[in-house]
Amino acid sequence: MTSSNNEKNFGIGLAGCGTVGTGVIRALQRNGELIRQRTGGQMTMAVKRVLVRDATKSRDEAVDATMLTTDWRAVVEDPAVHLVVELIGGTGLAFEIVARALELGKPVITGNKALLAERGVELFALSKKHQVPIHFEAAVAGGIPIIKTVQEAFVGNRMTALCGIINGTSNYILQRMSEARLDFQTALGEAQALGYAEADPTLDVNGWDAAHKAILLATLAYGFPISPADVHVVGIEQVKPIDIDFAKQLGYVVKLLAVIREHADGAVELRLQPSFVSKTHILASVNGVFNAVAVHGDGVGDALFYGRGAGQDPTASAVVADLVEAARSLCHAQGHRGFLPWAAQGRLLPIEDTKTAYYVRFDVTDRPGVIAEIARVLADHRIGISGTHSPVNPENPDAAFVDMVFLLHSCPFGLLQTALKEIFALDCVNSEPVVFRIEQL
Ligand code: NAP
Ligand code: HSE
Repeated sequence: MTSSNNEKNFGIGLAGCGTVGTGVIRALQRNGELIRQRTGGQMTMAVKRVLVRDATKSRDEAVDATMLTTDWRAVVEDPAVHLVVELIGGTGLAFEIVARALELGKPVITGNKALLAERGVELFALSKKHQVPIHFEAAVAGGIPIIKTVQEAFVGNRMTALCGIINGTSNYILQRMSEARLDFQTALGEAQALGYAEADPTLDVNGWDAAHKAILLATLAYGFPISPADVHVVGIEQVKPIDIDFAKQLGYVVKLLAVIREHADGAVELRLQPSFVSKTHILASVNGVFNAVAVHGDGVGDALFYGRGAGQDPTASAVVADLVEAARSLCHAQGHRGFLPWAAQGRLLPIEDTKTAYYVRFDVTDRPGVIAEIARVLADHRIGISGTHSPVNPENPDAAFVDMVFLLHSCPFGLLQTALKEIFALDCVNSEPVVFRIEQL
């Protein structure tokens, strides 16, 4: 930082000038004076260097082309840069940038959940070693301050559950498929055009973007490192219009849901999958790019956090808040921040032991006795049936192949998988059963 007349000037090195990076530049231009006043009239911030992959690309008019470089070291190591913002994404170069910044004593602000979920243990160890903070509010739920909530506002609570919708792209796609009857690819194209999706949207649709965020939340809430390899993740690629329609008929909506729950024995349930949520539950009305996280703390009780979970301005809002906090940390050293492993005995609940009710759709050859054959296997495994449903195709009431839905009472997921394997082996079942959890939130 440089000082003049008691005013402290912070130089920012911005790695990445895409959707979010451009949003940060615009937010600082729009509200720089407001931020200065809110911070006691003595703090100014200015972007000094900007890392991009292609410096010749045409960019938003807010971006000063003379600051662009393709040399990451020129950004991180520039003496005029005091704070480093990493917004390039990925876990390779982004790691090098963050690690080098920490080594140089420069606080880091990142929105990169993949980096922190995959390599956070290494990076937070570096943060601790160099006593330099990593701020990552933008990494989870876009503009919603959920990281600060878990780390600060609810630090005095034992959190028994954090459940919610934490991927804007998939929530947008599900709503557009459901309400506008768009096909999956068209809905995804819209989410990309709106700046919600990752550069590679695979992570949005296969559930892993949300899983990375859930890992960060669970790690902060329960204090032990969680390996992505131990997390059960199902994306929205398997969601078909037929399941959305069945859900509607049965009084549910389909949501990509993160479920994090602490059990009485201390085991932490952590899973990510498209689930049936009752139409009457508050999460059912979280639509489009909006995210919501429902937290239960032993002191605060139920609390709900709602807002835009992706997109340029909401995400930049979180980055700018972190920039101010990081600048403050340079004035009054805060040292290490982020994940502190405090629960040495922490453990995840095996996915096989997690319990919910289920919706299972079978593609069957319609002949007398089919329902009984499936029901027999379920009964053998002591899995209760709460309902069955099979729509008649009015154009072909005698169709040989039909979709048959079973609604099942709550049972362990492992038990269900065993039963479904046996059912899939029956002659009358034509393809792998499609399973959705029915969540009791
Ligand atoms: P983006 O639009 O794809 O922008 C990425 C930027 O990084 C571009 O400016 C790109 O340069 C630059 N870049 C990428 N790889 C590079 C490399 N190897 N060397 C130099 N520059 C490189 O991505 P984004 O949507 O802004 O997301 C950035 C990060 O924020 C990601 O970690 C993402 O997960 C996270 N995030 C995004 C959102 C959102 O709503 N989009 C919300 C929360 C968090 P060019 O411009 O030259 O291509
Ligand atoms: N691709 C992410 C989403 C961006 O759609 O939620 C916000 O992290």
